[in-house]
Amino acid sequence: MTKLSIIAFDGTRHELDVQTGSTVMENAVRNSVPGIEAECGGACACATCHVYIDEAWTAAVGAPEAMEEDMLDFAYDVRPTSRLSCQIKMSDALDGLIVHVPERQA
Ligand code: FES
Repeated sequence: MTKLSIIAFDGTRHELDVQTGSTVMENAVRNSVPGIEAECGGACACATCHVYIDEAWTAAVGAPEAMEEDMLDFAYDVRPTSRLSCQIKMSDALDGLIVHVPERQA
């Protein structure tokens, strides 16, 4: 198990204990975190699971693959820390990860 914190747009902090290998999106949906729609179910085909990686974690999470980068073009208010949460798998290296939900999805 690893720790994952998802900060909703209204500032509510969702502290989750999650399985290694699960994605940030899966955990957000499973725990009814508001603002993560994930319409395509994790296929990197909708951009409605957009999150901002907390500044302290951007290096550990790394950059998006080309396909995710293309899909991020469809997200709302994209920033340098933007990622699609269905493409981030929890691992020991990401124990304690913090992500922020944007104001709205695309
Ligand atoms: S759930 Fe559709 S791109 Fe992530």
